[in-house]
Amino acid sequence: MSRVPADPLPDMELCHRPSDGPVTALPLRQNPGAVNCTAVFDGLRILPQRAPDHDWASRVRPFLPGAPEHPSLRDLKGQPATMTDTNREMLRTTFGQDAELYDQCRPSYPPPLFTDLATLAGLGPHARVLEIGCGTGQATLPLAQLGCTVVAMDLSPDMVAIARRNLAQFPNVTVVVSAFEDWQPSDGTFDAVLSATAFHWLDPEVRMIKAADMLRPGGSLGIVSTHHIAGGTNAFFADAQRCYERFDPTTPPGMRLTTDDETPEEAAEFDRSARFGPAEFRRYEWQQTYTAPEYLNLLMTYSGNRAMAPQARAGLFACITHLIDDIYGGAITKQYRTRLAIAHKTP
Ligand SMILES: C[S@@+](CC[C@H](N)C(=O)[O-])C[C@H]1O[C@@H](n2cnc3c(N)ncnc32)[C@H](O)[C@@H]1O
Repeated sequence: MSRVPADPLPDMELCHRPSDGPVTALPLRQNPGAVNCTAVFDGLRILPQRAPDHDWASRVRPFLPGAPEHPSLRDLKGQPATMTDTNREMLRTTFGQDAELYDQCRPSYPPPLFTDLATLAGLGPHARVLEIGCGTGQATLPLAQLGCTVVAMDLSPDMVAIARRNLAQFPNVTVVVSAFEDWQPSDGTFDAVLSATAFHWLDPEVRMIKAADMLRPGGSLGIVSTHHIAGGTNAFFADAQRCYERFDPTTPPGMRLTTDDETPEEAAEFDRSARFGPAEFRRYEWQQTYTAPEYLNLLMTYSGNRAMAPQARAGLFACITHLIDDIYGGAITKQYRTRLAIAHKTP
């Protein structure tokens, strides 16, 4: 039996349930009576039939490594396309639309990253650190555990509320609501500025200059990014690309995951800035296994997926659920590569 049908879901259709409004996506061949739907989209959430808690879905393009938030911003060669100011300002607000889901589904980072960060940036209980785009505290907590005095910032009040809850036991952490571009510190410069999976959301005209302005001479700018690379259940991600091509016509054909060796270090922004010395890089590979509901929840924390038209997203999610549950035995494994880039401010 072919693992990948010519059409991953030849008889899947989206259907409407006019009684209560939602759109239902289901593989009709498994469910001719439409009574046991794979997923029900209520205009806001995918409500799974099998998941114990809420399910979201959103679009992720697994074949676009280096585009962790909005894969359509990359072209076929994997080069970032220009993100317009309007796109950026709209998409970067999507995370706070369901801050609890983000908190539940988005992982923190490999502990060795913080050991390396502490060494490379000289962090410890004496250090003052600014974190930009802290979300619900994925990197803030390990920073707090290093004993640093942390000012963590995020533009979303809902993300900040959860970050404050998660960090309540750390008097050394202050969490503020602000866009980085607008923030005016009142108490001097920092020993380090860190941004985890958020730097690409900052205004590119401002971010390096203002980060440098926030640092004492010799202070460190650390940028953490995470990419989906080849590994784990590779065949599932190859098959899932068919779902994206079907339900999102803007999906470029023929994309594939790259290996860690194929992904460049992307030092250009540091190199262009006269405010920083040469960047150093550290890489960390790790895996996470997801059931279908868990994976859809994760997808729904990505901005591009959140911005997708609801009906197309419902179809995409049903397609992915079908693959995971019916072809891949109920769980898939995603291979991540987290990178720390760090450079010191020039005197
Ligand atoms: C992908 S999330 C990363 C959250 C967290 N740091 C993590 O590692 O999961 C990006 C975060 O950056 C925030 N953000 C985006 N643009 C921002 C800006 N200009 N200033 C401050 N926060 C921003 C968003 O609200 C969101 O919480």
